Amino acid sequence: MLFALALCGSLLTAAAADAKAALLVSAMTPAERFTLVLGEPGTPVRDGVVTGAIGSAGYVPGVPRLGVPALQETDASLGIANPDNVRHRDVATALPSALSLASTWDPQLAYRDGALLGDEAWRKGFNVLLGPGLNLTRDPRNGRDFEYLGEDPLLAGRLAGAEICGIQDRHVIATMKHFAMNDQETGRFVLSADIGEAAMRESDLLAFELALEDGRPGAVMCAYNRVNGVDACENDHLLNDVLKRDWNFAGWVMSDWGAVHHLDAAVNGLDQESDAQLDREAAGGAFFGKPLQAAVGSGAIPLARLLDMNRRILRSMFEVGLFGAPPQRSPIDYAAHADDALHAAERGIVVLENDGILPLRPSIRRIAVIGGFADAGVLSGGGSAQVIPVGHPLLAPLGGEGAQDVFYVRSPPLTAIRSLAPRAAVSFSDGRYPSEAAALAARVDVAIVFATEWSCEGADAPGLSLPGGQDTLIGAVAAANPHTIVVLETGNPVTMPWLDRVAAVAEAWYPGQRGGDAIANVLFGRVDAAGRLPITFPAAQAQLVHPDLPGLDALLALTADGARGYQTARLPPFSVAYPDGGDAGYRRFAKENLRPLFAFGHGLSYTAFRYGGLRVTGGATLSATFTVTNAGSRTGTDTPQLYLTRRLGAPEMRLLGWSQVTLAPGASRALSIVADPRLLADFDATGGVWRIPQGAYEVSLGAASDQLGERATAPVEAQVLNP
Ligand code: BGC
Repeated sequence: MLFALALCGSLLTAAAADAKAALLVSAMTPAERFTLVLGEPGTPVRDGVVTGAIGSAGYVPGVPRLGVPALQETDASLGIANPDNVRHRDVATALPSALSLASTWDPQLAYRDGALLGDEAWRKGFNVLLGPGLNLTRDPRNGRDFEYLGEDPLLAGRLAGAEICGIQDRHVIATMKHFAMNDQETGRFVLSADIGEAAMRESDLLAFELALEDGRPGAVMCAYNRVNGVDACENDHLLNDVLKRDWNFAGWVMSDWGAVHHLDAAVNGLDQESDAQLDREAAGGAFFGKPLQAAVGSGAIPLARLLDMNRRILRSMFEVGLFGAPPQRSPIDYAAHADDALHAAERGIVVLENDGILPLRPSIRRIAVIGGFADAGVLSGGGSAQVIPVGHPLLAPLGGEGAQDVFYVRSPPLTAIRSLAPRAAVSFSDGRYPSEAAALAARVDVAIVFATEWSCEGADAPGLSLPGGQDTLIGAVAAANPHTIVVLETGNPVTMPWLDRVAAVAEAWYPGQRGGDAIANVLFGRVDAAGRLPITFPAAQAQLVHPDLPGLDALLALTADGARGYQTARLPPFSVAYPDGGDAGYRRFAKENLRPLFAFGHGLSYTAFRYGGLRVTGGATLSATFTVTNAGSRTGTDTPQLYLTRRLGAPEMRLLGWSQVTLAPGASRALSIVADPRLLADFDATGGVWRIPQGAYEVSLGAASDQLGERATAPVEAQVLNP
């Protein structure tokens, strides 16, 4: 681990949890053994019958005779969700999006986010959290990238592992999802992600592997899509070979909602069918209901397999503390959590461009705030992640996209800017008329344009441009006033045709319920601009692996609003090729010599950091030491990054590690990074092992993947490592 985490404990050792689970399984009647494997919807009343669910995404009845509690499962990508307001008016802390968390590069913060989510879940009566999500960003139009942790397996895996520890330390089971290759929403129910074994192990699967090692989640959710032609929830190779055999995953695999299509899933590694009601409606019955009973009865599915499913569920329940420390409905300290949400949002904001205008000086007299509903709030991502935030209802402006409402969280940047610039005249234009906004901008010292792009589960963005004419608005404002700052609230990278005409750009993602304050605090330099990109910003759509999003044309031909509908219509099956293989994001950009708009790792601090004294030693892995100095005039937080840049004479590009440090002006700190050996290795798909070839390995230290300075080389020994 890079950073020592506060805790990642459990109430019981794994062995004790296994033993207790085995005892319980042997005490179950034959009928009781079919209870925990079948999930139901989380609706408290169905067909007039009280179900026992407290209101959420999913519910699995318990076995009261044996004291086994029900599983109450809630989504939590942005906070504890309340789908369709099923728990009447129940609010929760709306955290910044996962992509914002990834921009902090801070495992401690990920742990704290997890602990906050776990605490709120537990006090509301939930004992299973349906997150974190950590599919690597493979396409920056994916409608769920905001729910994930970026494009690098090390960064995503370490942060997810820390978040899982935070959740489970509060005695709530965490569920890593969506296993695996659920990389676009268009056609998610029918597409096959076709990628080679070695490529998958070195990238997307590596993220899950690292998170599993660090966090030991109780559950994994398999994905909707197929992988190499086989449904992810029936994928013997992914579930049995990779997850359970190679990685020793001891917990259970639950399906995504409606992702089971055959009973075979039971032998291929699935342990629990979620929301069987969806399958009753779509497929005429639940697979893990009568069909499973019949198959176990006839011996077609071995009884041992059914016992294993139960044991896996129960051992996670024991290990995380669902028996020893069951949820207690109790008051939540929302005020403290709001402070955490503010801090997280500040840390996640990435200043992409700055000609020196930021941080804004208190002496500014006239400010124009333009567009992005900045008078009302900050944008939220949509779908199963949607949260009803504490304090104020969500705002849904007119003109929502497709079948879903676009929601803003009531944390107005305009109010926050006014309070930090009490002597300035701060005026607002909603930006609907670019000429009026430009006329206002011409009369002020600084114009701050807010630009938003909504993302939602079930749909991908049709392109990389900001929607709704916002590029025109920004262009008009920048033409009227060169002191224009653009603040982005997006779930993904966007293109910026106006970039060379503005003074600064800050990416605030979906910053959550204190987002307006966080943005103002960064703009005015109350805190350093500490965020670093966890994802490449392409310069143009032509740079994407698939410039035309696979399946989008077919979808548009099927349904007029298909591009923005919540659930994409069922398309005919299709395949998505992965010509980039294991080289997701910046690794492919480096290999193909593509110049991004902003590179992975990029982010501008308000102070200046200098690196020096890089030394690297080899052997079984690479260990680097170096010094970071704050050579500027303000306290700031830096994230120096170490990349593998050459291996056995051939160019490489891969994040090996990073460190994080907050330094006062003039202060220095000696830091060290030890590379996980798997980052130096190739996965040998035939032998099922990692192989590190012997030779010289060059590392480079820098502030971003495109700002590498010192280099050093060391010899690494040949090794074979088991996965
Ligand atoms: C999503 C999952 C979510 C589940 C329950 C599915 O549609 O893909 O991420 O956990 O619904 O809400």
